[in-house]
Amino acid sequence: MSNLVIIGTQWGDEGKGKVVDLLAEYADIVARFQGGNNAGHTMVVNGKQFISHLVPSGILQGKTCVIGNGLVVDPEVLLGEIDYLTEKGVDAGPTKLKISEKAHVIMPYHKAVDHARELMKGDKKIGTTGRGIGPCYEDKATRRGVRFVELLDADVFEERVRSILDEKNFYLKHYLKAETVDPEAVIGDYLAYAERLRPYVDNVSVTIDKAIKAGRQVLFEGAQGTHLDIDHGTYPFVTSSNTVAANACSGAGIGPRHINGVTGIVKAYTTRVGAGPFPTELFDAIGDAIQAKGAEFGATTGRRRRCGWLDTVIVRNAVRLNGLTGLAITKLDVLGELDDIKICNAYKYKGETITEFPTDLKVLAECQPVYETLPGWKSDISGMRSLDEFPQQARSYLERIEALTETPVDIISVGPGREETIVVKNILAG
Ligand code: GDP
Ligand code: IMO
Ligand code: MG
Repeated sequence: MSNLVIIGTQWGDEGKGKVVDLLAEYADIVARFQGGNNAGHTMVVNGKQFISHLVPSGILQGKTCVIGNGLVVDPEVLLGEIDYLTEKGVDAGPTKLKISEKAHVIMPYHKAVDHARELMKGDKKIGTTGRGIGPCYEDKATRRGVRFVELLDADVFEERVRSILDEKNFYLKHYLKAETVDPEAVIGDYLAYAERLRPYVDNVSVTIDKAIKAGRQVLFEGAQGTHLDIDHGTYPFVTSSNTVAANACSGAGIGPRHINGVTGIVKAYTTRVGAGPFPTELFDAIGDAIQAKGAEFGATTGRRRRCGWLDTVIVRNAVRLNGLTGLAITKLDVLGELDDIKICNAYKYKGETITEFPTDLKVLAECQPVYETLPGWKSDISGMRSLDEFPQQARSYLERIEALTETPVDIISVGPGREETIVVKNILAG
């Protein structure tokens, strides 16, 4: 029996939702372990598109889905998503969906602070999703957050909200020059959400542990990407959680010995949404063509994603940071019209070649990507279902990625649909 972690290797939006949906067929539980509704994971099944922000991408396969303690959850968004899935005929009831009693709750003041801070920063802003993610994790770290266990206890919740709003409203009004938040409205709205969500709240660490002991398989679904990790990403242009594979354990409440594999999702090129460094970013017609063919608009905020060539300096960084056992290459079809395809294999910094991703953003800003150029395959591969059918140039591109990252390519995605995939190796299938 195997348990697998799926994570993004770049700056998010690599296609984690698609791969998790596909592999969920072989899992009994699918668990998210960090982030919140800053994530937007897209699944396309029988031509129908589903975008999920909080509910794990295993829900369409009818699997038990778990929202771990490591998440920050906006209850209004979660309820909206449950309603949306129910309307589409997907079972997202309390037997299928479990929320950790230790997960933190995103409150209206978190969103207000997120917006007002970004506004104040002007052109120095991070470009957050504005969902209150950072301010909620900040309260978790300073030990004045609200967890689901507190939300479900009306007296404790009311007292917590009143005392924290004294401080938040002072900060909002006098420092951020923003609208204050009315405690009565928050208490009324959130106690109503609590009653609807009460049946979903669970000790998910125990639920997952029991399942593992009974020989069931768990798929852990990462959000964002390795280079948005609070410790290992392009700080401060990062999100506020650990996005790397190790956090699957603390964010879901299980020990590391249960993890048998880590698959890193690699988009066949690179994208980034929001501000921050991006060495291989393209500002030319090729970048625009990739953006258009790849339909690179954010699934959460609708923002245009910045596009560039594949950067194996960052993918190698992700291989090490996550202990990747395999790669899933997504959106390979998008490169099908290009004459030549470039891969960045190192950076040039002050005349020297460097192969490790620098920590200092000033150094990174001066790094020039070193490219090797491979011939394009100039054909549509989206209908192909085996590597043998691939043009030689497409196979060479994959082989070069394997060589540069020293990691095998286990999955290749050639379209958004669940079936538009080639699975070379699947540890969950035994
Ligand atoms: P996630 O956040 O990592 O789950 O990725 P997103 O869902 O935000 O973005 C990936 C986008 O690419 C979605 O619109 C997917 O439907 C789409 N997608 C995923 N894999 C492929 C693929 O192989 N080819 C194409 N053309 N689109 C894909
Ligand atoms: P998925 O799971 C891409 C980016 C934001 C911003 C930074 C901080 O769909 O891959 P935050 O709201 O988290 O404080 O924003 O992180 N970001 C993402 N970019 N995909 C995501 O999620 C992201 N979640 C956050 O754009 O630059
Ligand atoms: Mg996304």
